[in-house]
Amino acid sequence: MSSKNTTKQSSVALFKQSYTESRRRFLRQSGAATFSGAAIAMLSGFGSQTAYAGQSMEALEQDIRVLNTAIGAEHEAVAAYQLGAESGLLSPGVLNVAVQFQGHHKEHIDALSAAVTGLGGEPVAAKMDYQFPVEKLKAEADVLHFAAGLERGAVSAYAGAIPVFDNRDLSAAAASILADEAMHWAILRNALGLDAVPGAFFS
Ligand SMILES: [Fe+2]
Ligand SMILES: [Fe+2]
Repeated sequence: MSSKNTTKQSSVALFKQSYTESRRRFLRQSGAATFSGAAIAMLSGFGSQTAYAGQSMEALEQDIRVLNTAIGAEHEAVAAYQLGAESGLLSPGVLNVAVQFQGHHKEHIDALSAAVTGLGGEPVAAKMDYQFPVEKLKAEADVLHFAAGLERGAVSAYAGAIPVFDNRDLSAAAASILADEAMHWAILRNALGLDAVPGAFFS
């Protein structure tokens, strides 16, 4: 059996196992339909002392670390889209999309940073410099491939962060962002002439 099939089967098993619990939780929460808006509002409102009542200091620090890892990756994405936008290689339509996606990443930074600050942490700042493969960006497709790779990495990173957060509200917010990153990835793949949605499961 290939490792891909094994991954797919374990994804299905994991999903089935967590589905019942998730569904019960979903049904208990009458406001779950407004999930995305609530998730972002939650991130912005993390200054409330009650938002993390009962959380241990160790768990709190871990959540801040995970949030800061995400913020660091978002800063990198913003810089990457800036590089792409200034490359002169993008056609007007693609440039518009790139600027739009960059704006989403800036919004992610703002929301995640508000959460870190609210939890008493210090949001990480953007680096002065990033090691991007500038020499390999010679055509629009190169920029799209580069951006698609970062978006795929973002989906993977948020998928990894969701089960790690001690505060499940942060998991919900990360899921909201993951959905946005997945759409970015799909659009970029489509622009490259690739199958926008390569499979039923992400691995
Ligand atoms: Fe993002
Ligand atoms: Fe993205």
